[in-house]
Amino acid sequence: MSSEQSAVQELSPVQLAVIDSIAPHLRHDPYDSYAVLRAAGPFVPGPHETHLVTTHREAQTILQDPRWSHAEEPQLLHGDSDVELPGSFLWMEPPEHTRLRGLVSKAFTARTVHGLRARAERLVHELCTAALARGEVDLLDALAYPLPLTLVCELLGVPAEAHEHVRRISADIARGLDPDALLSPAELAARSAAVHAFLEFFGDLTDRRRRAPADDLITALVQADDAGARLTRGELLGTLLILVVAGHETTVNLIGNGVLALIRNPEQFERLRARPDLAAPAVDEVLRYDAPVHLTTRTARAEITVGERTFAPGDAVIVLLGSANRDPEAFPDAAAFDIARYSGGRTVRRHLSFGLGLHYCLGAPLARLEMELVLRMLAERVGAVTLLEEPPYKPNVVVRGMSRLLVHLEGT
Ligand code: HEM
Repeated sequence: MSSEQSAVQELSPVQLAVIDSIAPHLRHDPYDSYAVLRAAGPFVPGPHETHLVTTHREAQTILQDPRWSHAEEPQLLHGDSDVELPGSFLWMEPPEHTRLRGLVSKAFTARTVHGLRARAERLVHELCTAALARGEVDLLDALAYPLPLTLVCELLGVPAEAHEHVRRISADIARGLDPDALLSPAELAARSAAVHAFLEFFGDLTDRRRRAPADDLITALVQADDAGARLTRGELLGTLLILVVAGHETTVNLIGNGVLALIRNPEQFERLRARPDLAAPAVDEVLRYDAPVHLTTRTARAEITVGERTFAPGDAVIVLLGSANRDPEAFPDAAAFDIARYSGGRTVRRHLSFGLGLHYCLGAPLARLEMELVLRMLAERVGAVTLLEEPPYKPNVVVRGMSRLLVHLEGT
């Protein structure tokens, strides 16, 4: 027996579950490991003296409490490796967070999103028509990538010929959001190159919009910057980075996970076909059932007691959003995919897939719109979807999802 094997045999089931919950070969299903962790309690010792938060109540309490900071996450996950990711308000606290989020929220209102509906509908139909004509497709390539990528790029004002460039950059940065300890030297190098390419591309685009304003989000942010000198160049690029990466890779996984859940639960697919009006509540069930973002971190800024545990200032936790969403204490029949769970005035706990509190996802209305349109399209235009292989998963832990979803599609 190798020393590695004997070391693994000495680990307790809970320690093994901590490892399994992030193991690349279990990315297709980390949920059994999460159940072992929840059974061990709401706080389970994790790597580097952190605690994993496994249950819904505790996760919700921490995310809602502003005494827990998100600013230490880059240091926590990426150590001293000098990630070079431009600082974004995702990793800031008030007052900087309030100022920057406020500027973006002004440009990114519910009205902006509503204005995208017709364009998004057209895009979904075009992509669906092309996919149905081919029959056999990788649904990630045919639908899940192009929809959010095109929409976020058009919103920002990225020219069509550069969308593919942005897709590649953002995939390498999303991979790099995982803790550095889980990344290979090649992936670390790819992240550095991608950040460099991002800064070059978006630096140039913002300069062009400064000289020649257009009707897009980059111009709105540049003008907010110019008007009161309130957004530095670094802040502007950091904001764009989070809009592109958070607004793209996450939604790709939401769409992929949603289609997969319907394929694996054909009776729910039938139900959706019979009642396309369930598309909107079904979005929340997809988010709960198979979250696109599996974890976030928080660091205590004071002595804080949560449930039966008291944390000291500086203590860090890893909040397992994907585990909280499957907590049977919060959701009856938590492991079941039920597209009507969030429908028609039922009282259901909220899932934590968009986070909660100060950092609640700014793009939630856009992501919801995209997924709702995809579900409606599936209900109305697709008669059958057959899985052509067990889908492989990316190794990513934070923004988790498949790398391919090969299916055969038949029209109605
Ligand atoms: C299914 C799709 C999406 C999921 C699951 C998702 C998930 C999340 C989560 C969990 C957070 C909170 C992180 C934390 O508290 O640590 C967050 C924040 C954020 N998301 Fe999303 N997101 C999605 C789509 C989008 C889109 C489409 C955009 C924009 C175009 C976006 C922009 C942001 C921004 C700017 C923040 C930071 C908010 C802040 O710090 O105040 N997201 N998202």
